[in-house]
Amino acid sequence: MVALLLVTGCRELLTLGGGVPRRGAAMRDPGLVRDGAILVRDGNIIAVGTRRRVERLNAARGAKKLDLGGRVVLPGLVDSHTHLIFPASRAAEYEQRIAGATYEEIARKGGGILSTVLSLRRAKPEALKIRALTALRQFAGHGTTTLEAKSGYGLDTKSELATLRLLSELHQEQPLDIHSTFLGAHVVPPEFRGRADAYVDFLARELIARVALSGLAEFCDVFCDRGAFTVAQARRVLTAGRACGLVPRLHAEQLSRTGAAQLAVNLDAASADHLEKINSADIRSLAASNVVATLLPGCSFHMGLAHYPPARKLLDAGAVVALATDYNPGTSPTLSLPMIMSIACSQMRMSPAEAIAAATINPAYSLRRHARIGSIEVGKYADLAIFDVEDYREIPYYFGVNHCVMTMKRGEIVYSRDGI
Ligand code: NIG
Ligand code: FE
Repeated sequence: MVALLLVTGCRELLTLGGGVPRRGAAMRDPGLVRDGAILVRDGNIIAVGTRRRVERLNAARGAKKLDLGGRVVLPGLVDSHTHLIFPASRAAEYEQRIAGATYEEIARKGGGILSTVLSLRRAKPEALKIRALTALRQFAGHGTTTLEAKSGYGLDTKSELATLRLLSELHQEQPLDIHSTFLGAHVVPPEFRGRADAYVDFLARELIARVALSGLAEFCDVFCDRGAFTVAQARRVLTAGRACGLVPRLHAEQLSRTGAAQLAVNLDAASADHLEKINSADIRSLAASNVVATLLPGCSFHMGLAHYPPARKLLDAGAVVALATDYNPGTSPTLSLPMIMSIACSQMRMSPAEAIAAATINPAYSLRRHARIGSIEVGKYADLAIFDVEDYREIPYYFGVNHCVMTMKRGEIVYSRDGI
């Protein structure tokens, strides 16, 4: 690593500095510096501001210079909801859905999440690892520097622990930071078919404690929805998790309104994710809480649904809003946060500045990492996403094309293209 690095040539530097988490008007202020520079020592930001000011600092003497040639620089993107480990695509289901079958119909016939569970259990560990490593390189190639990743395609002790172990190995062996979530309550596994409460019992009495003891997960998540788990079952799982030190997150109100968003507020969960079906009371209580409303518009886009989560209402009510890919083989097979920002702007009427805050500082908060990531401020990691555009609004505007040309993690270049 270069000990002292001066990053210059930032046509626009979006610092996202200031309060955490961001809500309301603060979401619309990206902390823009024109012709900016960043001084990095040992992977940490020690100064940030205009090039003229930063270049003249005594501390910048002798620094190696990296001139970005007039690019737009954002904090490294933070993807706070992914299902990183899965064995194969479900492209055949995609085709069936295009022809008219619904996600839930496919799941009832043994497709969907359960089909991924069966193939993950049979998969070779090396194959899972290679697939995840390839995906992680692509995440880096789209500007992501930190991600959350869930288990939940194993659903038995051996496969859930193996998934979490793999996530921990990946965290150590490649440059992006991965924070793990135990999603044992994704769906009821085949061994417990028709006995959801018995499976919840097993999770609450046995598996959660083992996971917590292993130290392999920080968070506990439940898919609380029609066809998955009820609010009462979710409460039981998340309460058992919390008793062992796992912070709650929730898949809430995606396919039907169950009351899961309210549960997230009552449990003071780190985030409530999806929220397609929330009502105005849910919006009010999320807005009055610190639960991050994590929207995953890649799902509606990929599934061809006209209905998106009510981002505008959440933002206008003052909720802490984040965006994530939900990278998974069933509902959102994308790992591009810039694409998610495009969908968020065009389909949910988020402004480009709001979308950027929702993909940086707010998800950092939901991962409890806002002290070190999510903004370009003194004391934080030099995690940067660099885009070859002239105006930050062009990042969502030019949809479907990747304009990320360099990604830096703790001062190291982990992806670069076009010889920059
Ligand atoms: O976030 N909703 C539950 N879990 C995933 C879908 C997983 C799958 O279909 O494999 C989601 O949308
Ligand atoms: Fe998900």
